[in-house]
Amino acid sequence: MSHSDLDTDEVAAIYDELLKTYRTEWEYRGHRSLHLAYYDDEHDEPAEAAMNTMRRLSEAADIDGSEHILNIGCGAGEDSVWNARAYDTEVTGVNISETQLEIARENAAEHGVSDLTTFNYDDFHELDTIDDDSVDVVWGLEALSHSADRARALEAAQRVLTAEGRVAFTDLFLTVDPDSLSPEQQGRIETINDALGLRIGSIDEFETTLSETNFGNVQIEDLTDGIKRCTERRRSFARIAHPVGRVLGVLGVLSETQLDSFKASAEIDRLIEAGVLGYYLVTADTDR
Ligand SMILES: C[S@@+](CC[C@H](N)C(=O)[O-])C[C@H]1O[C@@H](n2cnc3c(N)ncnc32)[C@H](O)[C@@H]1O
Repeated sequence: MSHSDLDTDEVAAIYDELLKTYRTEWEYRGHRSLHLAYYDDEHDEPAEAAMNTMRRLSEAADIDGSEHILNIGCGAGEDSVWNARAYDTEVTGVNISETQLEIARENAAEHGVSDLTTFNYDDFHELDTIDDDSVDVVWGLEALSHSADRARALEAAQRVLTAEGRVAFTDLFLTVDPDSLSPEQQGRIETINDALGLRIGSIDEFETTLSETNFGNVQIEDLTDGIKRCTERRRSFARIAHPVGRVLGVLGVLSETQLDSFKASAEIDRLIEAGVLGYYLVTADTDR
């Protein structure tokens, strides 16, 4: 993949392959999230902390049950189902993977919220399946880092949001100017981007992009400390899984994509430890 662009089919293919790893985790954790877990004093255990990330984002987005939420990059439906159950609110999830969308629909049915949720095949840069002025909150939990053109995604969000609408995102961002990264750090970012189909950008750039796409009242909160236990855990797992996985890879049990994702997990934690990468919660209002 080129670093200026991203092919959504390739991103979907990466996820479809990584679902093999995720499914094992989902089985023993009892949920189907694809995001980082946010730990605090009351949420000290991995599954609880994964739910806590969604709680933090919903609270910041002021969800109260009266809104139509559009979940861009809805994964296996966990955050859509969580909002529908917690707030009895209408949620539309979009994704570029039919496999994930199918799991999302099953997830919603299992939790009795099929009537509140809809899952569409749609690219969040286009939002072709979503009417103008039809949603109150555009929610993205670790979705926009998959964009090589965040301005386009935010313009699409502007189109579908009502005049009083808002956006709420959590994601990984560089804490520093990308041009200030050492060649070694740039190499680590490329490893992460290639392995996970990401285009990580800086938080400052994102703040500028939000105002350039007419979002106001931008609030940015640094949640990095809360997700460190999760990234450390993933790195520890990768330390064991990568060498063992290489053997299993030779035996055809694990794929190159799965192996690359272990390496990417270790690099994410290294860059967080170095203070170069952070995890941010960002909210903003349509400025109309
Ligand atoms: C890290 S996962 C997060 C999933 C979900 N929000 C969660 O918390 O479990 C990112 C998701 O974004 C989706 N995605 C990536 N690029 C996309 C695009 N251009 N349009 C829609 N979804 C996209 C991926 O398929 C994946 O489901």
